Amino acid sequence: MQLISMENSYSREKICNDFQRGNRIAVIDFGSQVTHLIVRKLRACGVYSEVFPYNGKELLNIQNFLASGIILSGGPQSLLAKSSIKVDQKIFACGLPILGICFGEQIICAQLGGKLAPAKDSEYGPAILKINNTCPLFEKNELSSWQIGAKIPVWMSHTDKITLIPEGFISIANTERSPYAVIADTKRNFYGLQFHPEVSHTRDGEKLLENFARRICKCNGLWQPENLIEKALKDIRNKVGGGRVLCAISGGVDSAVTGLLIKKALGQKFNAVFIDNGLLRKKEAILVEKALRPYFENTLNCFDETELFINALRGVTEPEEKRKKIGALFIKCFEKIAQKLEKKHGEIKFLGQGTLYPDVIESMPSMLGGVSQTIKSHHNVGGLPENMNMQLVEPLRFLFKDEVREIGAKLGLGDDFLKRHPFPGPGLAVRIPGEVTKEKCEILRNADHVFIQALRREGLYEKIWQAFAVLLPTRSVGVMGDARSYEYCCLLRAVVSDDGMTAQPYEFKTQVLAKIVAEIVNEVEGINRVVYDYTGKPPATIEWE
Ligand code: XMP
Repeated sequence: MQLISMENSYSREKICNDFQRGNRIAVIDFGSQVTHLIVRKLRACGVYSEVFPYNGKELLNIQNFLASGIILSGGPQSLLAKSSIKVDQKIFACGLPILGICFGEQIICAQLGGKLAPAKDSEYGPAILKINNTCPLFEKNELSSWQIGAKIPVWMSHTDKITLIPEGFISIANTERSPYAVIADTKRNFYGLQFHPEVSHTRDGEKLLENFARRICKCNGLWQPENLIEKALKDIRNKVGGGRVLCAISGGVDSAVTGLLIKKALGQKFNAVFIDNGLLRKKEAILVEKALRPYFENTLNCFDETELFINALRGVTEPEEKRKKIGALFIKCFEKIAQKLEKKHGEIKFLGQGTLYPDVIESMPSMLGGVSQTIKSHHNVGGLPENMNMQLVEPLRFLFKDEVREIGAKLGLGDDFLKRHPFPGPGLAVRIPGEVTKEKCEILRNADHVFIQALRREGLYEKIWQAFAVLLPTRSVGVMGDARSYEYCCLLRAVVSDDGMTAQPYEFKTQVLAKIVAEIVNEVEGINRVVYDYTGKPPATIEWE
């Protein structure tokens, strides 16, 4: 059977009717690394927003979404290239306010009669915006300093520059290298910013976005993640009818909240399934059962499939092959369990899983050849086999992690559980570069446990977005107790992040890190050396594979 996601099976009309009408901004993505931040900033000020791929169907997507305004994102392309991009020209005639950011401003100019030229020097990083005109985008109390003559720190990232603005527009502000850093056509409500208001380096950028959404597009600003609870319950009931859902529980926040929502929607027509695949953190199976049994009661079923997964990974060293094998095995297990449960309960056609919005955005195809290339067959979206017998139910697929945590709290999940660091579906397998063995999993589990316990003890666990250990495939020589050792090297990774889409390494105090290293080497058999990964995302990813 074809894999059908929640989104495919719902008409947009239905989704939109459930949200407050007239409180939505559509963001058209041209491939910027920070497009998702626009959505996050808008939602943070109570305006529901979604990313739509640049795919030639922009107007249709915007209309179906019932958007009150449009934002055109930044992007890496040049409009001066021979086969340059064009956005659906009809969006400029649909009557909605439009805000172009960086490449988005350039596309407004290119398509409405302005001109661009290659800049001698690109403008990348901090710049000072000089305001020389008034603009509705600045009309908010908190933006009262954005007056004529003011100088505001902003963040730039572009090469081409605008040399002529289209008829109807006026120049509002400039920087040393950008004569048209802010432009406006107040009659049509079209605005352009050459800088990025969505990144934190731009002062008051989020207020500028809020102004566009609330003052110019007249959004009401009342959206909150918990609004989604009622909508999700309704969606789930609509989708599954009187059917039964089997929900994959991984031990993480996303799947637990997914399970709680589905259980709330369907009552006993629900089974939560937790599979210990031998690739989990230390004592994870015991912890998850203890933490979640009170919520799922007799609907929670736990299985130990360690041998199945470890045997399937024998000899597999290529990261994508590992991910695909694990994804396929999970589905096989769920289908087998479903068959057993079906004997008692009748047919189970649906699989619930905790896919989040960053996974959806990262998997979004567009005319740019996939906005993001497939970096990893990732997450719950990409790692599943194409043919499976169950349809997916993914009630969180439009939410970011912090929004899911808010919903989890509303549904009664305790802080201890909600604040757990994320853990990837393929588990320790993607933290053991090279072949995965039971012995390596055990060494890594022990090292990871010592690391995480130390972070809790030092009061650092909640300051760090995600921390874990990786077992490197090399052994090195050491000297312990005057004797030669030849053991594995373990790597520690700790990052701060908002949503896992970008991340920075956590800056440990040297003494703290030294203490943790000593503890790992002393307490974990099989490790005689520890290193710290000081790479951000990008250029690295958070997980190693
Ligand atoms: P990367 O490694 O892509 O990870 O920077 C970003 C975030 O996603 C988690 N991750 C996964 N989560 N299934 C998941 O549910 C997966 O296959 C998967 N791979 C990575 C990762 O732990 C980090 O939080």
